[in-house]
Amino acid sequence: MNVEELKGKTVLITGANSGLGYALAEHLLKAQANIIMLCRELRRAEEARLKLLTLFPKGKVGLIRMDLSSLTSVHNAAEEVLAGANKPDYIVNNAGKMFGPYMVTEEGVESQFGVNYLGHLALMKFLFPLFQEGGVGRVVNVSSIAHRWFPFEFRNILQSAHYHPVRNYSHSKLANLLLSRSLNKAFQGMGISTVAVNAHPGISRTNIGRNLPQWMVPVALRFGQSPEAGALPIMLALTDAEATGGDCYGPAGFQQWFGGAQKVEVGASAHDDRLAAALWEWGIELIEGKSI
Ligand SMILES: NC(=O)c1ccc[n+]([C@@H]2O[C@H](COP(=O)([O-])OP(=O)(O)OC[C@H]3O[C@@H](n4cnc5c(N)ncnc54)[C@H](OP(=O)(O)O)[C@@H]3O)[C@@H](O)[C@H]2O)c1
Repeated sequence: MNVEELKGKTVLITGANSGLGYALAEHLLKAQANIIMLCRELRRAEEARLKLLTLFPKGKVGLIRMDLSSLTSVHNAAEEVLAGANKPDYIVNNAGKMFGPYMVTEEGVESQFGVNYLGHLALMKFLFPLFQEGGVGRVVNVSSIAHRWFPFEFRNILQSAHYHPVRNYSHSKLANLLLSRSLNKAFQGMGISTVAVNAHPGISRTNIGRNLPQWMVPVALRFGQSPEAGALPIMLALTDAEATGGDCYGPAGFQQWFGGAQKVEVGASAHDDRLAAALWEWGIELIEGKSI
C-alpha cells in the first residue's frame, strides 16, 4: 500500500471516535495525513481526539459535531467544513449504526437507513461545492458484506410494520454502495474529477457489535479481526492508484470476513443503476423538502 500519497493531505472521517473510524485515524496520522473528525457526541469525540494527539503529537486533528440522524446537524457540519481553513482532500463516509429496535431520525426515517445512507447522502450534497472546486480526490463509502443478504424493497425502509433490524441494516449497506454509483454518475455528468469507491472491513470487533443477535456472537468472536486490520481496506481504497469509480476493497480471507486488504467483488444489486437512481431521488427530494 502506497501511503506516501497521504502525507500532508487532509482526510475527513465520519464516526472517527470509535472502532474503524478511530483505527483509520491512527493509520492516517501515522502516514502523516491530517484528520477532520465528524462525530455526534462531542465529549467522547474529544476524548478520542486527545488520545490521537497523545499518540501523534505533531498531528493535526480537527473535530466538528455532526449527528447523521438530523439533516440540520449534517448541514451545519458541512457548512463548518466549507468555511474551514483546512479543506478535505479525501472523505470517508464511515459512521454507522447496526440493528437494534425500531427508531426514527429527526426526519422520521428509519434510523439505520437514515443514519447510514440518508445522512451521508445529505453530507455529500451539502459538500458539493468542494467537489466542484476540484479539491476532493476520492470519497470512500464504507459498506458491509451484509449488503448481499436481502433483496431490496422500499417498503422495508418506509413502513415501520416491515422493520427487521438485520434486513434494514443490509438495505442501508447496499445503499452505501449505490451512493458511490450515483456520486460517480453525478461527478462524470458535471466534469468533476472526484472518484467514489467503497470499502468494507469484513467482521471487526468494534462497538457496533453491541446489538448483535445471539446467534451471530460466536461468529464475531471466532472470526472478528481487530479494528486496525478492519480499517486496512479503507486505507487501500484511499490509496490504490489503480482505483476506478465503484471499486470495492475488503478482506481477502474466507467469505471476505477477515484477512489482508484487496479489491473485492460486490453483489449484483450493487450494480443496479435503477435502484441507485431511485434511492438518490428519494433522498434528494427528502433533503430538499426539509428546506434547511
Ligand atoms: N465492525 C464490523 O464488523 C463492521 C462490518 C461491516 C461494516 N461495518 C461498518 O463500519 C462502519 C464503522 O462501524 P464500526 O464497526 O467502527 O462501529 P462503531 O465502533 O460503533 O463506530 C461507529 C461510528 O459511527 C458513529 N455514529 C453512529 N451513529 C451516528 C450518528 N447518528 N451520527 C454520527 N455518527 C454516528 C458512532 O458514534 P458513537 O461513538 O457516538 O456511537 C461511531 O463513531 C459502519 O458504517 C459499519 O456499518 C462494520
